[in-house]
Amino acid sequence: MPPPSRSSSTTARAAASGTSQAARGTHFAQPVADDAVVAQELSRRFHQPQWRFTNSGTESTLDAVRLARGFTGRDRLIKIEASYHGHHDALLVSVEPPADKMGPADAPVSVPYSGGTPLTVVELVTVVPFTNLEILERTLQKHLGEVAAIIVEPVMMNIGIVLPDEGYLASVKDLAHRHGALLIFDEVKTGCTIAAGGATERFGVTPDLVALAKAIGGGLPCGAVGGRADIMSTIDEHKVVQIGTFNGNPLTIAASKTTLTKVLTPQAYAHFDALAEALEGGLRKVIDDYELPFHPIALAARGCVTYRKERVRNYRDYLTIDKKYAYLSWLYQCNRGVLMAPGAEENWTLSVQHSEDDVLRYVRNFGEMAKALSA
Ligand SMILES: Cc1ncc(COP(=O)(O)O)c(C=O)c1O
Repeated sequence: MPPPSRSSSTTARAAASGTSQAARGTHFAQPVADDAVVAQELSRRFHQPQWRFTNSGTESTLDAVRLARGFTGRDRLIKIEASYHGHHDALLVSVEPPADKMGPADAPVSVPYSGGTPLTVVELVTVVPFTNLEILERTLQKHLGEVAAIIVEPVMMNIGIVLPDEGYLASVKDLAHRHGALLIFDEVKTGCTIAAGGATERFGVTPDLVALAKAIGGGLPCGAVGGRADIMSTIDEHKVVQIGTFNGNPLTIAASKTTLTKVLTPQAYAHFDALAEALEGGLRKVIDDYELPFHPIALAARGCVTYRKERVRNYRDYLTIDKKYAYLSWLYQCNRGVLMAPGAEENWTLSVQHSEDDVLRYVRNFGEMAKALSA
């Protein structure tokens, strides 16, 4: 399928939709008809029947854990060590715990990420390593009847990219349900980027609740939380509160509608897959040619280079990586026309605007860095 060109009508249409909605009104403090259109499209992609809108990923995971607690009547959360779920108190725990505070690998300590996080909140969060079912099961046994939800980034994307083991996500769901807990997918980064239906589609596992943001808003502040009807009905029953002045506001929703129905089309995902293949293949060849101990990971619109030969399975593996290569790569790319998000942990996000030439430029720049490293 031909890639959408830079002058393609998709971009023009997206801009026109935002401009025309801005002229008609950016805020009415009540739902608009397009809310239902966006919710239906998200239902189609993520198999969740009901949706509420927010304004950020932080708000989406905040609402997801409140829903889980309200529905189950339990307080404890289990999260993965080094997953980031936004900046609200409930999950600002062990985001990047320092090595001297993180405790043993099989029983990580819950470490607050920021001053001002109440200890009583931190104590309600139990931390487990990614893609380890044995420790998760032991943790659920230890806190029998206490756990409201297990929240995971189905593919970890805040320490480079860390893939789950085959079958891991389905087993986490099974374990959660056996212990009366819910499974929340934080798809703020994976949602609509690694597949139309994010990790839910890519791994074939539908969680009880899903948190979205970023890609669904076409560049405007956005977010959504979707879930099972029985869980979401706690909002209608006034058991759980989900509110916000700008939730589902007409401007963001116009951008979401156009993004989801006109920009992120099946053709766009075919384009991402083709670019991902070109990137992964090109980078792998450079790495092989220069015999560097790195490997690329590419999942449709998302990807990264992991600066270690072996696969990273969790935060402790990630800590073995020397970040100087990631910083050097950022500088190499930045000085050669590719502006990446700064930080050693960041991955790339492709847009429908990117062409094969763009990704090959990334590969070329990477080749220059590899040559310099090997000199
Ligand atoms: C996985 C994940 N969840 C939640 C968030 C928070 O999203 P926001 O910055 O929109 O509040 C982020 C932000 O990067 C994220 O990566």
